[in-house]
Amino acid sequence: MTVKIYIPQDAAALALGAERVATAMAEEIAARGLDVAIVRNGSRGMHWLEPLVEVETAEGRIAYGPVKASDVAPLLDAGLVSGGAHPLCLGKTEEIPFLKQQTRLTFARCGVTDPLSLDDYRAHGGLRGLEKAVAMQPAAIVAEVTESGLRGRGGAGFPTGIKWKTVLEAAGSRKYIVCNADEGDSGTFADRMIMEGDPFVLIEGMAIAGIATGATKGYVYTRSEYPHAIAAMEQAIEIARAAGVLGVSILGSAHAFDMEVRTGAGAYVCGEETSLLNSLEGKRGLVRAKPPLPAHKGLFDCPTVINNVISLASVPIILDKGAAFYRDFGMGRSRGTIPIQIAGNVKHSGLYEAAFGLTLGEIVDEIGGGTASGRPVKAVQVGGPLGAYFPRALFDTPFDYEAFAARDGLIGHAGIVVFDDTADMLKQARFAMEFCAVESCGKCTPCRIGSTRGVEVADKIAAGIEPEKNRELLADLCNTMKFGSLCALGGFTPYPVVSAMTHFPEDFSPAPAVEAAE
Ligand SMILES: Cc1cc2nc3c(=O)[nH]c(=O)nc-3n(C[C@H](O)[C@H](O)[C@H](O)COP(=O)(O)O)c2cc1C
Ligand code: SF4
Repeated sequence: MTVKIYIPQDAAALALGAERVATAMAEEIAARGLDVAIVRNGSRGMHWLEPLVEVETAEGRIAYGPVKASDVAPLLDAGLVSGGAHPLCLGKTEEIPFLKQQTRLTFARCGVTDPLSLDDYRAHGGLRGLEKAVAMQPAAIVAEVTESGLRGRGGAGFPTGIKWKTVLEAAGSRKYIVCNADEGDSGTFADRMIMEGDPFVLIEGMAIAGIATGATKGYVYTRSEYPHAIAAMEQAIEIARAAGVLGVSILGSAHAFDMEVRTGAGAYVCGEETSLLNSLEGKRGLVRAKPPLPAHKGLFDCPTVINNVISLASVPIILDKGAAFYRDFGMGRSRGTIPIQIAGNVKHSGLYEAAFGLTLGEIVDEIGGGTASGRPVKAVQVGGPLGAYFPRALFDTPFDYEAFAARDGLIGHAGIVVFDDTADMLKQARFAMEFCAVESCGKCTPCRIGSTRGVEVADKIAAGIEPEKNRELLADLCNTMKFGSLCALGGFTPYPVVSAMTHFPEDFSPAPAVEAAE
């Protein structure tokens, strides 16, 4: 019987040498005349073990990692094909604690299946949600999503069902589903991993959204920095179209839905939904004032659902298993699971899907294993470049939208970036202002001018020039940006700055200029 060996084609694995491993494996298999098929899967999300090679055995899949091309021959000598012992052997993949302790709902198939095999997708529970949806009334689908408690995973945490209801009820001969796959937040990669590792789940989620709201056309808006995700999505869309999952008659029903991928040049602000719409229409990525909401007047002035990749990819399992199944996970008003992306100076970086409610300390210390440098953790930035820096004193904060907001933080797209005690928080605050200045769309003054002034003030504090006065000025500037900006880029840049000032005041009191010069 042909043995299956899995070697990821995920961009993170490729960056760590997966292509060289696959080439070496193919050559060795041919030279040894082995009956082996190489499957290029997605990533399991354990970045420190990539490239992670797996072999299918009667006992389940056995993992080896991190594998280099030069390890391939010795691994085959050691009996890799039958799961043989070797120093790189990690045992059964599903038993690796980082994976075993997760609740994989949205990422259930990622790394498990062949991303471009629709048969494999079906064999692992795929299309069951869509099969149910084609037989349901649109309002019933919307009600199911609403009852599941699903909130947008792109950053704002807005209830997905309510957004869909608005589009369903909006009048319009054409409606659109736009998937926000811009994924600009620092330390985030969940959208990319799904698009590369399980693209059909996003297609299925978008088709369900189309049926639920009366939209017949969808766009996945992503960035040019994601070439592997773009290729995987485009191939998967063609396969889905050929199989009747997309097109004029979804799964043989009276519903039509088709979709395509559009690539932006890669600007952080183009992840903001109205700026994204402008970019998608071929215009400059300038933020639009709201109202009108995109749900009323979105793409080409038509009612439009804009949802993050993970929001849409979570819908198939909700339809398949029911709202109550999904809602039973989580805490408070944060229902279901969230793919936490652990990055920065951390030992075990990767993607960890879990029900809401883990504390930040559990995520950083236990799951992440502390810093990669072995030094103490100083700060953790949660929620991308607009997220607050949390010190160890706030590590008891549970991963929950409201709990983070209560401590002047945000979950955002669930990216966490870990810093050790060598981090200079004044420099991080300056970086937040600089990032905003570079990425600002320029439409409103507090953000366009304020961010540049913010960099200057941070530099003055660093130089020891009137530090007290300049700290006050920085706080005042943050207040103006927070309340005077048109969108969250200018409005949330104060979060990393103010949190750095509040929790790490010592970094904002450098030695006076004269002393420093002596
Ligand atoms: C500056 C800025 C950048 C954003 N970038 C993204 C992004 O990359 N991906 C995303 O899904 N949402 C992003 N958002 C949030 C979107 O505006 C919007 O809330 C989201 O796409 C809605 O989808 P959801 O309800 O499924 O989260 C960004 C918002 C701002 C203000
Ligand atoms: S806050 Fe910044 S990015 Fe947002 S509209 Fe104003 S200038 Fe543009």
